[in-house]
Amino acid sequence: MSIVRIAIIGCGSISLQNHVPGIRLCPGAKLAALCDSDPAALDRARQQTGVAVSDTDYEAIVRRDDVDAVIIATPNHMHAPIALAAVANGKHVLCEKPLALTGVEALAMAEAAEKAGVRHMTAFTYRFVPAMRYLRHLVRRGDLGEPYHYRSCRLQDWGKRNLGWRQIKSMAGTGELGDMLSHRIDFAHMLVGPFAKVVAAMKQLVPVRGGVANELEDWVAVLGEFKNGATGVLESSKVASGRNESWRSLDYVEINGSERSFVFMTGSWDRLRVGTVGGPGLEDLPVPEEYWRWPGSTRDPRAHDPLVAFRYDQIWEFVDAIRQGRACDATFYDGARVQLVMDAVVESAETGKWVGVGEK
Ligand SMILES: NC(=O)c1ccc[n+]([C@@H]2O[C@H](COP(=O)([O-])OP(=O)(O)OC[C@H]3O[C@@H](n4cnc5c(N)ncnc54)[C@H](O)[C@@H]3O)[C@@H](O)[C@H]2O)c1
Repeated sequence: MSIVRIAIIGCGSISLQNHVPGIRLCPGAKLAALCDSDPAALDRARQQTGVAVSDTDYEAIVRRDDVDAVIIATPNHMHAPIALAAVANGKHVLCEKPLALTGVEALAMAEAAEKAGVRHMTAFTYRFVPAMRYLRHLVRRGDLGEPYHYRSCRLQDWGKRNLGWRQIKSMAGTGELGDMLSHRIDFAHMLVGPFAKVVAAMKQLVPVRGGVANELEDWVAVLGEFKNGATGVLESSKVASGRNESWRSLDYVEINGSERSFVFMTGSWDRLRVGTVGGPGLEDLPVPEEYWRWPGSTRDPRAHDPLVAFRYDQIWEFVDAIRQGRACDATFYDGARVQLVMDAVVESAETGKWVGVGEK
């Protein structure tokens, strides 16, 4: 395949901020078509990109012969129907997280894509932060030793504003859990392995957002045990007042093992902190320059704001996997594994009991 022709389905914030620039920076990729069910959003995207091929109906876009791959960036409830329609038409799919509304739905997407022989990718964007990729390498190399504890803390201040579809259960599925904690569950899988069981709590603190009822949780906390015996503590909040948002807010991961501890923070994209058994405490660990961009990516890591630009490498990974005929980092199966943990978190928050992951 010479040029990978990509259609974006759902032309809202993340598409315009991440996917469009990512496609532009990726050699061998072309933004070929746009789709949004909202004509005003579609028009805005057309004007911003200059792409003329467009439709408000995703069914029409996934049937096009001049489209090889689609990016799905709609509200969560539309991920599964659009992905299933796309793979049925032989299109490769990069789908936003959370992959679906339930683990069963996410697994069905993975199975359908695998059966169709197309590439499938879940947009776990924070895998692309240079410091996270370096941490993954160090852990796999054995520097951590035996994993003891995984800890993540995501604190943002989204105030009381209206969150649109993000506060409607039928469209989002969950609130802070799917929105933010899903990425940190994925980190846990990458760094430690699968969860065995979880006990969780979810809390809504802002019942009305911008004059509209909020149907979902603003805060979630999970205590977990991994299959290898390590422990996990994960917390995520939209209402940590004064903490700011996005990369200006706290996104903290700490992992402790028998040999070392490591600390990752998205805001410190080119540094980790490391502590060694018997050592003086945590010290700075610079991320080597070879990790500043994804393997093979031709993006100049000094050309853009590094706190934003790591996101562009996601398209490189998707397109390269299509060209090489290899699995994407991360696949729909990775998305489904996170979704199964999310199902267990929801069940535990409802019942107040420990819930085995994937047990049904
Ligand atoms: N990977 C990340 O870091 C990251 C960051 C932000 C958002 N996301 C995910 O991306 C997705 C979109 O989030 P957003 O913030 O861009 O939302 P958004 O509301 O800004 O954009 C969604 C767009 O999808 C359109 N849409 C709705 N139904 C549609 C349909 N049936 N067909 C075509 N278009 C449709 C809407 O009109 C809207 O323009 C969500 O799943 C979200 O969780 C991921």
